[in-house]
Amino acid sequence: MKIAILSNGTANYSTKRLKEVALARGHEVHVIKYRDCYASIEQNKPTVSYRGEDLAQFDAIIPRIASHMTRYGTAIVRQLEMQGVYTVSSSIAIARSRDKLRSMQLLAKSGVGIPKTVFSRNSTDIESLLDKLGGTPVIIKLARGTHGNGVVLAETKKAAKSVLQAFYLSNEDGTNILLQEFIEESAGTDIRAFVVGGRVVASMKRQSLDDDFRSNLHKGGEGVVIKLTDEEKKMATKAAKAMGLHVAGVDMMRSARGPLILEVNASPGFGIEKVTGRDVATPIIEYVERNAKRRNVKDRVGA
Ligand SMILES: Nc1ncnc2c1ncn2[C@@H]1O[C@H](COP(=O)(O)OP(=O)(O)O)[C@@H](O)[C@H]1O
Ligand SMILES: [Mg+2]
Repeated sequence: MKIAILSNGTANYSTKRLKEVALARGHEVHVIKYRDCYASIEQNKPTVSYRGEDLAQFDAIIPRIASHMTRYGTAIVRQLEMQGVYTVSSSIAIARSRDKLRSMQLLAKSGVGIPKTVFSRNSTDIESLLDKLGGTPVIIKLARGTHGNGVVLAETKKAAKSVLQAFYLSNEDGTNILLQEFIEESAGTDIRAFVVGGRVVASMKRQSLDDDFRSNLHKGGEGVVIKLTDEEKKMATKAAKAMGLHVAGVDMMRSARGPLILEVNASPGFGIEKVTGRDVATPIIEYVERNAKRRNVKDRVGA
């Protein structure tokens, strides 16, 4: 097959691994910097080009869209979908995963456990919002934050109110803000399950190395191997499915009332290979091999 990996970081570990595995399995592989792609929108004739090459000739694309490039990246993926090019992750699934509020709504509907979450544009409602969450401390999150930036722990009602006000003031563009129950039982740790084609192919626990409540590796967290329970595995695959993602990094926390899903990442990093010794690149290429012929299936998430 002729496979394109859409990635701006050509030297990224994940990009290198996908390329290496696909080549070893006999495919032709091109790494395409999607930020340098351009699209032409014409009646019945959409095209995407990269350095003079028409991307419609590819049998499959593997999008690795960075969160700060979501709009441009998903527009390029969408244009290719319209030309009938098979993509492992659909543009709509990538876009919805980048909005934590939309994600929480979909996850709740699918029946997986999530932390109690409320949202409002009004900090005068703070009392009743906090009541719904069972009081402070609470987590306050920007719907479009990543890498732990935009996630704050407010210990008191006063702190929650002023954080909420500050977030809204600096967010004129209307980015939504979530208030969430603080999962105290496993603060500073979370679990990343790497899901491919409805199966967990690797999992690790991330632990913050200082007193930070956030365990993101980007914030200095450390990953260690962990074995998931059957319930956790089931929940991780259900969460990926609820988001319409066939390749996903599902983040969850262990709580007194069972596993709770925090978020579902559409372009999960491959650092988990180094932590666990598991190969996540091969299952992805195998998934592409099994599914590219079927072409794109309709997104059925409905929101
Ligand atoms: N409700 C919560 N209770 C306790 N810790 C949380 C909660 N939500 C997030 N965290 C911590 O903060 C980190 C970042 O939050 P997350 O929602 O994953 O945002 P990001 O997209 O920035 O990674 C998580 O990995 C977890 O360690
Ligand atoms: Mg996260």
